[in-house]
Amino acid sequence: MDFGSMAKYIPLFVEGLKVTIEISFVAVIIGVIIGLVIALFKLSGIKILSFIATLYIQIIRGTPVIVQLFIIFYATYPLFGFNIPPYIAAVITFGFNSGAYVAEIIRAGIQAVDYGQMEAGRSLGMTYGRVMRHIIIPQGIKNILPALGNEFIVLLKETSVVSIIGTADLVRQADIIRAATYSSFEPYIIIAIIYLILVLGLSSVMDKVERRLKKSDYR
Ligand code: ARG
Repeated sequence: MDFGSMAKYIPLFVEGLKVTIEISFVAVIIGVIIGLVIALFKLSGIKILSFIATLYIQIIRGTPVIVQLFIIFYATYPLFGFNIPPYIAAVITFGFNSGAYVAEIIRAGIQAVDYGQMEAGRSLGMTYGRVMRHIIIPQGIKNILPALGNEFIVLLKETSVVSIIGTADLVRQADIIRAATYSSFEPYIIIAIIYLILVLGLSSVMDKVERRLKKSDYR
């Protein structure tokens, strides 16, 4: 065991960390945009839209993300005649993938708000839209925000599969260091620790946010 010899690879670890965080962050942003649309489709009550939403969610959640990654990365050439860089393929795959999970987070978050809230608002003469905007959605957001934080944490770990197409994330950097040094233990232990610190750090931030959001429930 020789962690000292890893010191000169610090820049690679840092680069990998940057890429991992970037991909997860961009993916979660794309995920929220797609998720919002799909959740609205699903909640719209319009048959064809909710069918499309259900189909999207089932296909994405019913297939392994690594297969989705290969389809995006390798099938663009036969389909469109050009290759996309691994980094872009990674972001697109995880953006679309996350969209399905975020759609369910949003739908569940809205539907978890007690139906009595809608009845109460309506009985006061508010329109459906007003009750949604002023009563249901603000409460739904309390369910949704912590779950979105969780989604980001999940992505930090799940994006490790993008190393397989050559995206320069943490795992890829560890692979490179293993190949250069013939040490397979140290680089992977180091990235494991980096992931762990990220996940534990973010979880504790999310805990605080969640507690803060709950506060106003007990006034
Ligand atoms: N391990 C899952 C799969 O292979 C990835 C799920 C991604 N999860 C997420 N919340 N975006 O399909």
